[in-house]
Amino acid sequence: MHKIAIFASGRGSNAEKIIKYFQQHPTIKVQLIVSNKADAPVLQLAEKFGISSLVIHKARFLQTNDLLDELESFKINFIVLAGFLWLIPSYLVHAFSGRIVNIHPSLLPKYGGKGMYGMKVHEAVFESKDQETGITIHHVNEHYDEGSIIFQAKCAVTPLDTPVTIAQKVQLLEHQYFPVIIENMLLTT
Ligand code: GAR
Repeated sequence: MHKIAIFASGRGSNAEKIIKYFQQHPTIKVQLIVSNKADAPVLQLAEKFGISSLVIHKARFLQTNDLLDELESFKINFIVLAGFLWLIPSYLVHAFSGRIVNIHPSLLPKYGGKGMYGMKVHEAVFESKDQETGITIHHVNEHYDEGSIIFQAKCAVTPLDTPVTIAQKVQLLEHQYFPVIIENMLLTT
């Protein structure tokens, strides 16, 4: 059985899609939700679906590798970052080499890097007058948004779009593709 931990900082709409997608799956299970914010809505989702959750504290996350023992106790073998805003420290990248995946709401390498998350990305796309944007699903290394790209999907940006409508189009793509790509990765490795 593949056991996934989802790391998320916010609303958790991707986390919810992933949880639902794997609810009846024979070999893949969402085992744990990890958040850096005690009041993140994603933690209520965990409760709703009966999934264990963990709130991590910054100093402990960055300066110790205690989290590895916690992940081990839940038998986690794959980590999904779904709107998780902290950089992943190298002990975690190495312990889960090739087994941490992130979703980013733009066509990387455009609009990536530190500070580029959520609406900030869509506002930058809006300002740029680019005619397309999309999603990137990629492996995670010690740098923001720089791991190798696994999958991208595009959508059009028209003159009628606003940052809000761009965000809506991009989230539709995220919800459509992220669970399926995770499943493909787990079933082919
Ligand atoms: C998603 O759009 C995800 O791509 C983005 O945060 C949002 C989380 O939404 N991640 C980043 O910007 C990472 N740099 P959600 O909480 O509704 O899933």
